[in-house]
Amino acid sequence: MQLTEAQCAQYERDGFLIFPELFSAQEVAILRDEVERVSQIESNCIIREETGGPAKTIFRMHEDDGETASGAVRAAARSSRALGAAQQLLGDDELYLHHCKVNVKAAIQGSAWPWHQDFGAWHLDGIAEPELTTMAVMLDEATEFNGCLYLLPGSHHEGRHQPYWDDSTAYSLWAVGPETMRNKIARYPDPIPVTGAPGTAAIFHCNNLHASGHNLSAHDRCQMYFCYNRVANHPKEVENPRPDYVRSQNWQPMTLEPEDAILRSTVIPA
Ligand code: SIN
Ligand code: MN
Repeated sequence: MQLTEAQCAQYERDGFLIFPELFSAQEVAILRDEVERVSQIESNCIIREETGGPAKTIFRMHEDDGETASGAVRAAARSSRALGAAQQLLGDDELYLHHCKVNVKAAIQGSAWPWHQDFGAWHLDGIAEPELTTMAVMLDEATEFNGCLYLLPGSHHEGRHQPYWDDSTAYSLWAVGPETMRNKIARYPDPIPVTGAPGTAAIFHCNNLHASGHNLSAHDRCQMYFCYNRVANHPKEVENPRPDYVRSQNWQPMTLEPEDAILRSTVIPA
């Protein structure tokens, strides 16, 4: 996929682009089956609310090896629609994934992700420059009712804000404080909800402010995230680094796969 000049300018201005149904229903069905299969596996790459309970976040489905490896997710992460777009927006062909995750926000109970910048945490992982971008792929229909993602247009231009550790929801993270957020939301255009049919995707700058609400619907809300970093911007050593599944040390540049690679993928045996 080749982004147009207008799309690149829009990304520069807003910090994100939204692509309705970028992945087909058939591709989404394959990716969804893979999430279902892998979520049954015991692995420390899978975060669950309680032992034996449903998966809340699944990491590291994009690699060739490991318990959570998936041929279909590997192919999606290397498709020109995801990797190609990231290469173009970051102006570098040598990219790897800082991590890949699938967030399952459970029906009725799945809680909010507070306002944050991904680079808030990733800088603490030892990454020097905000030269990362994330492709989020909706594997279910995303609605405001089921806790879709909201992006604050243009918010990446003010750089990184000192984050604070917010453990007020089930998704503890390095968030941007309520005072700063009140001020920003007053000054910026309204946040944009990333809604749409399964297969819809959004690519956003690592300093873009984003959040998502509680899932009030009767169905789980599943979304997949590919967080691309420039190989040249890989993390420096830090004290007490986070585990490899969230702070990858596989800095090999990823190569593009053919566009039909998801459809042709096979299950990687555990
Ligand atoms: C994130 O911001 O990393 C995830 C938000 C979500 O899945 O709603
Ligand atoms: Mn985030």
